[in-house]
Amino acid sequence: MNDIERRVAELYEQLSHHARLYYKDDAPVISDAEYDALLRELWEMERAYPELARPDSPTKRVGSAALEKFVKIRHERPMLSLDNVFDTGELRSFIDRLEAAIEGQGALVCEMKIDGLAVSLIYEDGVFVRGATRGDGRVGEDVTENLRTVKTLPLRLKKTVPGRLEVRGEVLITREQFAELNRVREENGEALFANPRNAAAGSLRQLDSKITAARGLSIFLYYIVDAPGRGVFRQSDTLRWLADHGLPTQEAWAFCDSAEEVTAFIEKWRERRFDLNYVTDGVVVKLDDIALWDRLGSTSHAPRWAVAFKYPPEVVFTRVLSIDISVGRTGVLTPVANLDPVQVGGTTVQRAGLHNEDEVRRKDIRVGDRVRLHKAGEIIPEILEVEKDARTGAEVPFEMPEKCPACGSPVVRLPGEVAVRCPNRSSCPAQLKEGIRYFASRGGMDIRGLGDKLAEQMVEKKIIRSLPDIYTLTKEDLAGLDRMGDKSAQNLLDAVEESKKRPLSALIAALGIRFVGNKIAEILGDHFGSMEALRSVSEEELALVEGIGPVIASSVEAFFRDPANGELLTCFEESGVTALSLRDDRAGIKVPREGIFTGMTVVFTGELLSIARNEAEKQVKALGGKTASSVSSKTSLVVAGEKAGSKLEKAKTLGVRIVDEAEFLAMLG
Ligand code: IVH
Repeated sequence: MNDIERRVAELYEQLSHHARLYYKDDAPVISDAEYDALLRELWEMERAYPELARPDSPTKRVGSAALEKFVKIRHERPMLSLDNVFDTGELRSFIDRLEAAIEGQGALVCEMKIDGLAVSLIYEDGVFVRGATRGDGRVGEDVTENLRTVKTLPLRLKKTVPGRLEVRGEVLITREQFAELNRVREENGEALFANPRNAAAGSLRQLDSKITAARGLSIFLYYIVDAPGRGVFRQSDTLRWLADHGLPTQEAWAFCDSAEEVTAFIEKWRERRFDLNYVTDGVVVKLDDIALWDRLGSTSHAPRWAVAFKYPPEVVFTRVLSIDISVGRTGVLTPVANLDPVQVGGTTVQRAGLHNEDEVRRKDIRVGDRVRLHKAGEIIPEILEVEKDARTGAEVPFEMPEKCPACGSPVVRLPGEVAVRCPNRSSCPAQLKEGIRYFASRGGMDIRGLGDKLAEQMVEKKIIRSLPDIYTLTKEDLAGLDRMGDKSAQNLLDAVEESKKRPLSALIAALGIRFVGNKIAEILGDHFGSMEALRSVSEEELALVEGIGPVIASSVEAFFRDPANGELLTCFEESGVTALSLRDDRAGIKVPREGIFTGMTVVFTGELLSIARNEAEKQVKALGGKTASSVSSKTSLVVAGEKAGSKLEKAKTLGVRIVDEAEFLAMLG
């Protein structure tokens, strides 16, 4: 093997490995730009030495093979990818080649390149019947049920199209939804999504479509399979046709008459794209005249009538002014760099998380250093590397403090862990503040109004010294706090009172036990039925519960073994926190085999105002019924809340019985 052959083999290996991490596991370890650079290197080598290009080369593939867990769907026409160009020179050559091939000048359409997940949708006589992911371009996964949960996707077209229609586009997650999703995941101690694309992919490929529904995905369409068959002959008309039929399309596109206009579009959106509520990483340039597409054809992986211009990932320089330590709910100390404010990716960045001590050491980040910074996934500020040549000698290396900056306790680093912790669980103000916020959050005891700012003040003013103090708050306590009028004080006290009735699973989740998020809390609550039972359970018994692994079992057992936590729970109980499980007779709900919903399948749609959706579903189950996420002929009852949408429509079409929230509550008795 010569050097070139060796490098090609190496690139095959690396690219397949990273493609697997990216497409299958939704957990990339290198940036898109790094991936693109490897792919490009291989591309160029294959162009120079065509004999080295094997049919299974990563450059010939689109993504990776479909996962086993969904039903596989063979696309009637392959779902292709796009070739990339990285500067205006390369773009120019693409347009020149295009014009040579069509022997003339062709109008072009520019659209933003959405950083999402390609899907195909099938409508039959105007009704959405099937949706699939791209998979490897030939075989994808049937994600129909999950796509039905995408709110902007019409289940019936605005104008009926006879027969079978296939349209294609991109499922995505908005910047806002992405931030919210990661916020909740962080609170639940779950791994964060690296970028919106992975969040969208991870959310769409859920076997439980309820999880997908909760993720709030969006979709944009841009392609009609066999457009001429529908009387659509131009890409610009495709976009209008799609919108006309109620299919969401992007607003950011333009008809361009010349290469100059294309360049102008690219320049116009270079910065402005950061104002869009979804992440884009380039511009797709397409020949407008669809009739010419067939004549141009495609390579094994990409059409010749379109190309993707990729914006370079934005990297800026700034300076590290200082490094703060933030102390989280579980006592973990996280270094955070304060930066000289710098514009990147459409916002001013002045802080960047540095993860942990090892990471700072690995990158050798010092106070005073000039650093290169980008936004990971175009969103999360990250220091890439230090400009070591720019050092003056005055830079100060980072030292992890030996004492917790919030309470002064000596910190500990457990063997085998990268995290440094403050062990003072009971009275560290930083941990307490985060603990209050977490306890009161929506996934926990849901005490509305008790957020970050308030928690901070209460801890500072020593109004709350430990979590149970939340339940002894008085109006007088609240009177002296910033922005706390009589009315908001009363609202807060009411919310505190209301939270006492939250179910057992909410209290378990609110305690912030390591590895116990909402889902695990629910399993524990359902299985043990009361806090007393859970408190005295052994690690072995816990590990026998379906869905609880040894790590969680050990963490739960350790939590309850700690006498301080026992005291905490006793305090809650004394304050009147009931934490009843649905299995508990005192909750007034028996676990009947027979109930008013026996034999029924109930579907909820829209927003319920006086009861949480998951609570309502539990009640249905407790009364003998089943719940489902979509309406079909098997549905017995649809409960329609506020702003009910397509499910309500479908129920009406199918003649399913529909009740509103009040009627549903009356049924519960
Ligand atoms: S057109 C025949 N238009 O980018 C392929 N693709 O990197 C037609 N993408 O596979 C694709 N935004 O999943 C097209 N406005 C847009 C797009 C777009 C994002 C995706 C698509 C494609 C990938 C290629």
